[in-house]
Amino acid sequence: MTNPEAWTDAATALADKVTANATEWRDAVSATPRHVLVPRWWERIPNSPAEAWEMVAPDFASKAHLSAAYSDATLVTRVGPTHADEAQPDEKPTGSPTSSSTLPGLIVSMLHRLDARPGHKVLDVGTGSGYSAALMGRRLGDENVTSVDVDSYLVQAARARLAEFGRNPRMEAIDATGELPESGYDRIMATVSVRPVPKTWLRALRPGGRLVTTIAHTALLITADMGDDGIARGSVQPDPATFMETRQEADYPPKLNEVFATAREDEGDEVRAADGPIPDLWQEWPLRWLFELDTPGIETRAAVYPDGKRCVWLLSADGSWSRSEQPESGSGTVHQGGARRLWDDLERVRRKWEEGNRFSLHSMTAELSADGSHLVAPGGAWRFAI
Ligand SMILES: C[S@@+](CC[C@H](N)C(=O)[O-])C[C@H]1O[C@@H](n2cnc3c(N)ncnc32)[C@H](O)[C@@H]1O
Repeated sequence: MTNPEAWTDAATALADKVTANATEWRDAVSATPRHVLVPRWWERIPNSPAEAWEMVAPDFASKAHLSAAYSDATLVTRVGPTHADEAQPDEKPTGSPTSSSTLPGLIVSMLHRLDARPGHKVLDVGTGSGYSAALMGRRLGDENVTSVDVDSYLVQAARARLAEFGRNPRMEAIDATGELPESGYDRIMATVSVRPVPKTWLRALRPGGRLVTTIAHTALLITADMGDDGIARGSVQPDPATFMETRQEADYPPKLNEVFATAREDEGDEVRAADGPIPDLWQEWPLRWLFELDTPGIETRAAVYPDGKRCVWLLSADGSWSRSEQPESGSGTVHQGGARRLWDDLERVRRKWEEGNRFSLHSMTAELSADGSHLVAPGGAWRFAI
């Protein structure tokens, strides 16, 4: 066991690192014992074909525990339906993270963008470990903070752990895409991504209030200020931020493995030459997010083969798929199957983006209202419902 005060040194070092551009949050980061909120977590097993996770359960407040808790890293606490707190040490769950303690640097930069000040009434969407609620409570006053999560275990665990160090914000287990506990918020910050932007958030934000959120399946971070006309106007921020999307169940729907089984090598209903080089959607992320905005909900996968050939798959829940193959030299080939032509959609989005001089996604503006929310590309001709 380390010196019980060792965490404060570690928290101060973390604060030095993550609040350099947001000094108003320095005290809150230095004074918040993140290790109390995250006693156990999951780490991906390297090179595991099944994408399995293993538990990390260090001795409480040990050097290893403090080193992880006060690093600027995300700690995944729940995988699929399994929370590390409730799992057996030898469990190896597979699946996607369904809750985590977000990296402190990202929480702080979002809080800075939120421009929350002492006395503001704030809604923290996505309690998770309770870390963001703890920072807000310390600086803004617990009585001004409401934190909500869809998962009642998470809310109960966070409430008990926050109380251990004197933090008692209002906490509720609700699906935040539905009705909210209150209205008249000065600030709403979501550490879970959404699409559509819930109407209830826009109704609950008072004129002059600010919303900071991300759009599901993209890294687009939006900041918008509510006007007197019920429309929140804002923009896409330059710093990318990715969060898990909202869920209503204990886990997300399964990945499209059956569609992939067909798409992997089938000839398809249509084979054609690609219109230009096959993009690497993991490098060309602006194209990937634009495609997601235009044609939501398409699962993307990629592989590089030993001969240098690259493959990109687009998969849809309706069974439509495309496989685009780019040999190391020469032109690419596209295979498509099912009711929709997904690669045609991607090429259409790319052409339109090129006609728009490949505008920066951060130059898009946001118009959010309970009647409908949009991101608008420069010039106004291309609008995406979000
Ligand atoms: C990345 S974690 C939040 C991190 C947290 N703010 C922290 O500082 O530890 C996202 C959280 O959103 C929650 N969530 C998912 N869907 C939700 C929904 N529909 N309503 C409210 N919370 C939701 C998840 O259960 C998860 O705990």
